[in-house]
Amino acid sequence: MTKLTGLMRTHHCGELTEANIGQEVTLCGWVNKYRNLGSLHFIDLRDKYGLTQLGFAEFKGDMALLKKCHLESVILAKGKVAPRPDEAKNDKMTTGMVEVQVEELQILSENDINNIPFLPFGAIEATDDNKLKYRYLDLRTEKLQNMLRLRSKTAQKVRNFLSNEDFIEVETPILYKSTPEGARDYVVPSRVHPHHVYALPQSPQTLKQLLMIGGTDRYFQICKCFRDEDLRADRQPEFTQIDIEVSFATQPFMKSLVEGLLKDVYQLDDDFTVPVMSYDDAMRDYGCDKPDVRFGLKQYVVNDIFEGTDFGVFASVLKENGLIKTFFVPKSAGTFSRKDTDSFVEVVKPHGGRGVAFFKVEEGARSAGISKFVTDEIHEKLNALSSETGDGTWLFFADANEEVAHACADALRRHLGSKLDLIEEGYKFLWVNDFPLLEYDDGRFYAKHHPFTMVRDEDVDAFMKADPKDPEGGLKKIYANAYDIVCNGYEIGGGSIRIFNQAVQKKMFEVLGMSEEEVNKQFGFFVEALNYGVPPHGGIAFGFDRMIMLLAGTENIRDVIAFPKTTSASDLMSSAPSVPSADQLEELHFMWSKKS
Ligand code: AMO
Repeated sequence: MTKLTGLMRTHHCGELTEANIGQEVTLCGWVNKYRNLGSLHFIDLRDKYGLTQLGFAEFKGDMALLKKCHLESVILAKGKVAPRPDEAKNDKMTTGMVEVQVEELQILSENDINNIPFLPFGAIEATDDNKLKYRYLDLRTEKLQNMLRLRSKTAQKVRNFLSNEDFIEVETPILYKSTPEGARDYVVPSRVHPHHVYALPQSPQTLKQLLMIGGTDRYFQICKCFRDEDLRADRQPEFTQIDIEVSFATQPFMKSLVEGLLKDVYQLDDDFTVPVMSYDDAMRDYGCDKPDVRFGLKQYVVNDIFEGTDFGVFASVLKENGLIKTFFVPKSAGTFSRKDTDSFVEVVKPHGGRGVAFFKVEEGARSAGISKFVTDEIHEKLNALSSETGDGTWLFFADANEEVAHACADALRRHLGSKLDLIEEGYKFLWVNDFPLLEYDDGRFYAKHHPFTMVRDEDVDAFMKADPKDPEGGLKKIYANAYDIVCNGYEIGGGSIRIFNQAVQKKMFEVLGMSEEEVNKQFGFFVEALNYGVPPHGGIAFGFDRMIMLLAGTENIRDVIAFPKTTSASDLMSSAPSVPSADQLEELHFMWSKKS
């Protein structure tokens, strides 16, 4: 490593040990703590590397300077490294055996202690909003500094792994055209082209495919993606992907590549592989396509068992072709008070649920909840589903239309997994594949992933023959050659083998209800490229922020982003988005310009 010179300091604040005793040093940093013991003054000086104690017994300068050493002021201290008195030694800190006896002190930047909105290490507590508004203050904390380092180190590991596998990192444009991934676009008006806009990429999907057509063979990029969608604890409007594309790739190749990368990032055993679950099985057993498999509480569909039931709620769900799911909570896992069971409705409400049916089995008898509607015959059939049926077992139900019933069963299962402390330590990965290619909603088909996803080999003929106008003409049963990687209940990545044949790609757009004119306008350049020699290819993109969330053990994506946005997509620090000036609007050819 080259020895760099010329900093204002000779050492950082986490460096000095007994080996440095007697040396003249210069340290710079923030005042972390100031103790005034009358005749003795001490400062703990902080930077991102640690803390060093400064003593002022030898200080010959103006003691008035110390009055400006408010917490969070930035100072420079020159002096000699000395052993601490025995009673002040702290062997838990690298620098805990020594202090610097300050001879010269400079206040580099005085903190306005009366107005600072909070102290990252001190008495003035921050509100959540203030932590975002003054993110640079919160960034001084060890927690956020560790996160930045973890992110940077992980990015480095990813780059090393992929570079060793012959991938090259290519940057792709941000001012571009719509790249549909199921969200709204962020658009940027063009000054030069009146009434035209660029769209910020939801992902570099078409671009990475064009790189394959361009002969790049193995591409990756750690890139920003932009999606205007409803935000959640694991979603930001701009987020980072590790984006990957490979020519001549098959699904097994992509899986082995991803498993290799995960091994490096999560420091997993050499024989690490990821189990596979089909989308249909994931929905049936867990009610979602990103199940958290660190705990049980597997779900069962029980429509048949409740056929002809006297319980009105279930009867009407069955009449409307809805879904009834149940799961068993064995005695060993826990028991529930009336207050608990009443509170479960709040867990399912955000997912469209209206209530949670349940009953328990005690000393061979059924009680509570819907027990009076559960006959011996029904109970026997329910018991036949699971081995967890002993005394003390509780059964919970989710019942609604299919989508809502799955979502409620998933939410309640996750809630109970955490409430009952059933979640195992560590990382549990899962491949979810065999996704349906399409979703049908509001009278039209949508791509479940994106419109460039290849149909599973065995479904290609049926896909090409299907009538896009007939929702029951078989398109709902076409599956995709796509795969998601899930960890601890988070979708951390998703990818697919791509359509590389123009006829199939055109059929896909037709199925999605796009006219030839629309296709040409939006994707003409891409469809044309499929004419000129295309290597079959596939890829994947990881949600880098979510990967870091798992590494850092946090459930909030904001904790792993240097300058995150709020759930309403604003930046509290800079007040973005902001109202443009009249001049800007005029330049951008907006109708309500200052002249109009
Ligand atoms: P997909 O849309 O599944 O696929 O995105 C890939 C991964 O990106 C993460 N992710 C997000 N993370 C934070 N905030 C968001 N708003 C957000 N949206 C997505 C998820 C997800 O698994 N072009 C395809 C990939 C491909 O086919 O190669 C794509 O973007 O972890």
